[in-house]
Amino acid sequence: MSTPPAQGPAPTDLDAALWSAGVRRGRDGALVVAGVDVREIAATQGTPAYVLDEADFRARARSYREAFNGAFAAIGTQVDVYYAGKAFLSVAVARWAHEEGLRVDTATGGELAVALRAGVPGGDIGLHGNNKSDAEISRALDAGVGRIIVDSLTEIDRLADAVRARGDGRRAPVLVRVTTGVHAGGHEYISTAHEDQKFGLSIAGGQAMTGLRAVLARPELELLGVHSHIGSQILDPAGFTAAARKILRLRADLAAETGYLAADVDLGGGYGIAYLPGEVPIEPGRVAEDLAGVVGEVCADLGTAVPRISIEPGRAIVGPTTFTLYEVGTVKPVTVDGTPPFTRTYVSVDGGMSDNLRPALYGAHYTAVLANRTGSRETVLARVVGKHCESGDVVVYEVDLPADVARGDLLAVPATGAYGRSMASNYNHVPRPPVLAVTDGAVRVLIRRETEQDLQALDAG
Ligand code: LLP
Repeated sequence: MSTPPAQGPAPTDLDAALWSAGVRRGRDGALVVAGVDVREIAATQGTPAYVLDEADFRARARSYREAFNGAFAAIGTQVDVYYAGKAFLSVAVARWAHEEGLRVDTATGGELAVALRAGVPGGDIGLHGNNKSDAEISRALDAGVGRIIVDSLTEIDRLADAVRARGDGRRAPVLVRVTTGVHAGGHEYISTAHEDQKFGLSIAGGQAMTGLRAVLARPELELLGVHSHIGSQILDPAGFTAAARKILRLRADLAAETGYLAADVDLGGGYGIAYLPGEVPIEPGRVAEDLAGVVGEVCADLGTAVPRISIEPGRAIVGPTTFTLYEVGTVKPVTVDGTPPFTRTYVSVDGGMSDNLRPALYGAHYTAVLANRTGSRETVLARVVGKHCESGDVVVYEVDLPADVARGDLLAVPATGAYGRSMASNYNHVPRPPVLAVTDGAVRVLIRRETEQDLQALDAG
């Protein structure tokens, strides 16, 4: 999208921060991604569909790995970047992440299974979860995962007992997830470091130290270090550095008390992206520099060696790689009371809250563009809505669309790669859309479209 087309209308409605690098407008005004016209995608694959730009995914994965390793090399340490699979995981995506030098962070047995099926070695996988089942713990141990992030005091004993029962003499590598009290991020539901929520062990409350001692007391466990994730969709780097200070101090306190200086510190994910024109995403180079500066300075002050660092970005890697392609059905002007009254044009598309829950769940804002053509210069104030049976089924609350938007047009909603397909549902028995990768002019199905037969197959009748 950074390269304007050789001829045709200028791509003035595409804000570079929102779209993958492979998106631009073609000479007749239709969107083209990695060389493929969206009209062709719609004709051959149907709509709605998530359209993912593979080269862009790989570039974002590399940019995080390079920015963090570059910045932390200056303080003499390395950074392992774990792609947070909860944002979006498929076998191909896990493989791409691994090929680009990332590891994979999983939060359930299901995500772990996908990473393993992709061929990611167990040692390059981390397993999270505040309520891991016995089966998940046992699968993780079978796979030899590189780290299990423990989230409660009871889990520490459950894990150690599971390791002992196996009797193979191998220890489980463990990080303890702690809460720092740093408030950051978007909606309350996705902010995780404040104390009154289910994740982690509180530093301020003393449970974090209790947990670290408990891990050290169990010979079945190997304490790798401390983990903190402060929230998601964070646009201000200050939250990351504030949390880093607290966990480095905790690590030093543990060393002072026990003589054990943990080798690893995981700073979690949460790097924010742009969803609307004009929004400025977190810049990996900037946040990496800030964090490396703070880690170097705090470790020097505390007199502790610099730890090996890891991070877990999900949204920032996959979010902007993908747009959702919809077809317009009903267009309905509605007169809205106001002074003066105004008209809002409701544009209904063939998906909705089943393929993007975020507007309904978090009040998240997105934008949209007419994708099969540029349309009239004159615009209308539009609300893009889905086909589900509730009025909160909104895709885009407010966007100016060409006034001639009509049934049969295609709309593209950018930045839906993270927590779109991964939180999709079958509400109203709507089959979930496919995820299509576009690479060098070719379209490949990563996850096929669900069918009504798929849904019926679950119904025992
Ligand atoms: N690490 C841990 C331990 C996490 O809990 C998460 C996200 C991540 C990493 C990745 O965070 P990211 O870099 O993607 O922000 N469904 C919400 C987001 C929930 C995030 C949950 N944990 C949304 O749609 O905004």
